[in-house]
Amino acid sequence: MAKPRTIHACQACGAQHSRWHGRCPDCGAWDSLVEENFAAPRASGAAAARSEGLARLAGAAAGDEKPRRLSEIDHDASPRIATGEPELDRVLGGGFVPGSVVLLGGDPGIGKSTLALQLAGRLAAGQRSVLYVSGEESAEQIKLRAERLPGLGPSLQVLTTTRVESLAAPIAELAPSVVVVDSIQTIATDAIESAAGSVAQVRESAALLSATAKRLGAVLLLIGHVTKDGQLAGPRVLEHLVDVVLTFEGDRAHAFRLLRAVKNRFGSTQEIGVFQMAAHGLEPVANPSELFLEERSTRAPGSCVVPLLEGTRPMLVELQALVAPAPYGTPRRTTLGLEDARVALLLAVLDRRSPVDLLSQDVYAKAAGGVRVAEPAADLAIALAIASSRLELALPPDTAAMGELGLGGELRRVSRVDVRVAEAARLGFRRVLVPAVCEREWRSRESGAGSRSKSECELIPIEEIAQAIDWLRDHGVRVRPARGPDVPSKSPS
Ligand code: TYD
Ligand code: MG
Repeated sequence: MAKPRTIHACQACGAQHSRWHGRCPDCGAWDSLVEENFAAPRASGAAAARSEGLARLAGAAAGDEKPRRLSEIDHDASPRIATGEPELDRVLGGGFVPGSVVLLGGDPGIGKSTLALQLAGRLAAGQRSVLYVSGEESAEQIKLRAERLPGLGPSLQVLTTTRVESLAAPIAELAPSVVVVDSIQTIATDAIESAAGSVAQVRESAALLSATAKRLGAVLLLIGHVTKDGQLAGPRVLEHLVDVVLTFEGDRAHAFRLLRAVKNRFGSTQEIGVFQMAAHGLEPVANPSELFLEERSTRAPGSCVVPLLEGTRPMLVELQALVAPAPYGTPRRTTLGLEDARVALLLAVLDRRSPVDLLSQDVYAKAAGGVRVAEPAADLAIALAIASSRLELALPPDTAAMGELGLGGELRRVSRVDVRVAEAARLGFRRVLVPAVCEREWRSRESGAGSRSKSECELIPIEEIAQAIDWLRDHGVRVRPARGPDVPSKSPS
């Protein structure tokens, strides 16, 4: 009998090593190597059954594909499958491509199963054959969830299993056009001995499933868990195997969720989808700006609105800052939804290039609503929010700001000013602070277009940060500090 071969596979990057290391020599992750039996031989009966199942599953006899001329290939032959979820279709670039493998990742409890069941149910209602495979929940649990979701087709086929091999027969029988697997970490193939969720299992199971899907021209939607640091759990290998990687993100404490394409072989990775988790499943949010600005306080200092751009989609987001004297030692700098390094850099620019003094101040900065802001166009708004809190001057409520800040304090160009300004105008903003170069371009375009396309928004050109602070000093609304010497401390008893 052949000796079983053991390998040590890194659960973070998928690298395989012949012996154990405390730290993966490939990716440097600590304590990530797990011993796995690689294709250990089994009892002969089981092995025969297994190879038969696998053969049925992976199918395709060798040599049944022939090379074709590029000119002979018609890409319109298989039109996209619209999912009935406008936000999802937008991210996918118009729907699923038949025969593609899509990976949907996200934190636990974010709503991956809900989204998957919702779209599976909608597709089933549209007379498509859909198979929903769950290795995590019982059929009763799925039914309970389905009862909360409107518009699900009664013909949706549900299968609860954790074995890849037991999918062979139902897939062959139903010939579904969409197969959902929730989740890839709970499904295992008998071909490999290691536990479900290990790198080898995930890779092998995903490879078998995707070979089947490709052969049948079915869409395979795999749900994947995400580790604490935001990687798709274990298998980076999986990202190479699939055609589309979607991530579902958002703060669980907040209702809204963002769907992004990290990789998309059939479309752009620029578009995002916005959903709101409600009592009856995920609802699309067509106008996210309204949602993000709903709870804005227009009278408090330390707040500035920025028109961000996600793909082709503008979104107004409120950025907030709180500056307070540091009682002792090194001042604290805490951020939420913004990058630490960016805020530190903006603080240094404000401190050196403007009259705002922040040296011995604690600074707290966040993006409201649980949004994560990465666009450099938000620099000016972050800086203004910080200055507004420090100077106790609230920005006028009808004012937004955008622009990238250089280390010299100069304002740099942002892209698609027209789209951003239009969105700000739509939500009632009347003034937008923009880099001077953008304002010049805007003016020449408006004069070219004649008076008919005049915007309702006034663009205020800013050359450098000190000029923006001057503007704030001239137009800001002075707010009395909430707590000061005039507030009685405690009534004598
Ligand atoms: P779930 O979809 O199971 O998340 P995942 O599969 O990513 O782990 O859970 C979503 C959460 O949303 C869960 O905490 C319950 C909640 N929820 C709603 O608020 N409304 C609904 O209609 C449904 C189905 C779930
Ligand atoms: Mg789930």
